[in-house]
Amino acid sequence: MKKIIALLLAVCMVFCFAACGKNTDDADNKLVMATNAEFPPYEYHEGDEIVGIDAEIAALIAEKLDMELEIADVDFDSIIPGVQEGKYDMGMAGMTVTDERLEKVAFSDTYAKGVQVVIVKEDGNIASLDDVEGKKIGVQQGTTGDIYASDSVENGGYGEENVTKYANGALAVEALKSDKVDCVIIDNEPAKAYVKANEGLKILDTEYANEDYAICFAKENTELQTKVNDALKELIADGSVQKVVDKYIKAEE
Ligand code: ARG
Repeated sequence: MKKIIALLLAVCMVFCFAACGKNTDDADNKLVMATNAEFPPYEYHEGDEIVGIDAEIAALIAEKLDMELEIADVDFDSIIPGVQEGKYDMGMAGMTVTDERLEKVAFSDTYAKGVQVVIVKEDGNIASLDDVEGKKIGVQQGTTGDIYASDSVENGGYGEENVTKYANGALAVEALKSDKVDCVIIDNEPAKAYVKANEGLKILDTEYANEDYAICFAKENTELQTKVNDALKELIADGSVQKVVDKYIKAEE
């Protein structure tokens, strides 16, 4: 028995080494992008695949750089730490450029814009923005919606005690549907996608500032940042980025 186990272990180790060896071989040519794929239309699951605006723009960038794109689907608030550690080459997740984040990572040029809105139940207890104060708010942990909502009332927020943080937007919307929260604060395009996919929800516009979405890199990885920016510039100039956006965001009827 012991011999068999030893043999199995040996076989395993050979396989592991082979696998690791292979990894280091094409590590040079891999572009590992971290995202949180519960954020339609920017990134979401379609069967086994991660699709969306970010996934497709990243694929176009990788193609230009002659690299192989690999997408890691992780919690939103672990993207920046992972990029800082070098676990991922870049983070692309409808991520807003903020001063606080700029202290931790570098950003590409921006490729899209967003704004925070409030999703409510059509027949719920929030009819307008004035009703949000004191109600239970769901957000995606670590996002700008979380940061704004969790701020004190004096600072224009709703107070941390009223905010429940979910690992992703889909869970926050589920919580709204089952009345665990009264509203969800999230970026406008995902809000539209969630309202479309779930009956009985609607969107309130807020007066939050416009946000710029960009790709983040480790601060020291200026080489990749420059390469990606160059690729992005070309893809914006030749209309490729707009084409991807138009595919996922239909003009308002
Ligand atoms: N724009 C917001 C932020 O940067 C939300 C992004 C969430 N993205 C995601 N893929 N879950 O904080």
